[in-house]
Amino acid sequence: MVNKENTENKQINQFAIDNNIAGLTVISTKAVFNNEPGYTVEKAKRFLVFQDRINKDLLKHPIITDNHYTRWFEEGEINQPQIQDFIVQFSVFSNLFLIAQLKKMINADSLEGMRASKEILANEIGVIFKASKNTDVNDKQTEYEKEFVSAEGTIEGGTFRFRAAHFEWLLNMAEKLDLGYNDVGKRSHGYKSTLFFCDELSRIYGNEDYMISQAASYAVENWAAAGFWDELVRGFEKYNSKTKNKLPIAFFIYHAKIEAQHAAHTQEELEELYFDREIDEEKFIKYGNEMLEGVSAFWTGLNEHRQKL
Ligand SMILES: [Fe+2]
Repeated sequence: MVNKENTENKQINQFAIDNNIAGLTVISTKAVFNNEPGYTVEKAKRFLVFQDRINKDLLKHPIITDNHYTRWFEEGEINQPQIQDFIVQFSVFSNLFLIAQLKKMINADSLEGMRASKEILANEIGVIFKASKNTDVNDKQTEYEKEFVSAEGTIEGGTFRFRAAHFEWLLNMAEKLDLGYNDVGKRSHGYKSTLFFCDELSRIYGNEDYMISQAASYAVENWAAAGFWDELVRGFEKYNSKTKNKLPIAFFIYHAKIEAQHAAHTQEELEELYFDREIDEEKFIKYGNEMLEGVSAFWTGLNEHRQKL
């Protein structure tokens, strides 16, 4: 069985080299090899030229390669007002993101796409993923995490719990920092830069034109996969190691974990979209960059404010 698979993989690799299409994900290469509908060698070549352009003109955006705020945060030299400030702005983003996600769900151009967006939305407001395997539960997790946090699985058959809403995890943290329910999560608490980000999410990520929405999605996923969640987690861990008032950081650990899984799929999703639909390449790069400008505004705003605190 393993031998048969090896031979097939070798054949597919050779096929990719012979046809000058090395660089595609395994899934797409296989689809071209098997002559699946839409998957032609010619289109694969066009995709690789497009990918070069994405690498140069989108993924080198400074907010992906050089996020000043999270780099500072990672050091863990954060005072109480700075951490409060961060939680407030993040809670605004976390809440307003729901609007963008709902729009993305409504504007999906296939049932499959709608479900994928619904999955994220429902999990965000408190449907716990039903794990297919129990890899997520381990001794390091607190009772709270075991009960409310699962980074793997699907919402299908999952349980809704108020306390599993991501916003409530942030609220838990906020309360440890003497912030109440009405101090977080509303538009009125957001800096201009935070609101710009949230409104751009709603406009681009939630766009009626699903191709624009997908461009924003790809940009956002690549930003998230660039490691900022891990930087935040390391910053919080250092902060917690120095204080008696330890913050419950499940929110950030969870998102770091879930991101590691998303990252693997982002590229496959782009290729699937490319072979399946007609992507307007110019538009994809344009809206992807506009989205990243929104992301950038959020972090730049935080970075400017923390220097005054
Ligand atoms: Fe979330």
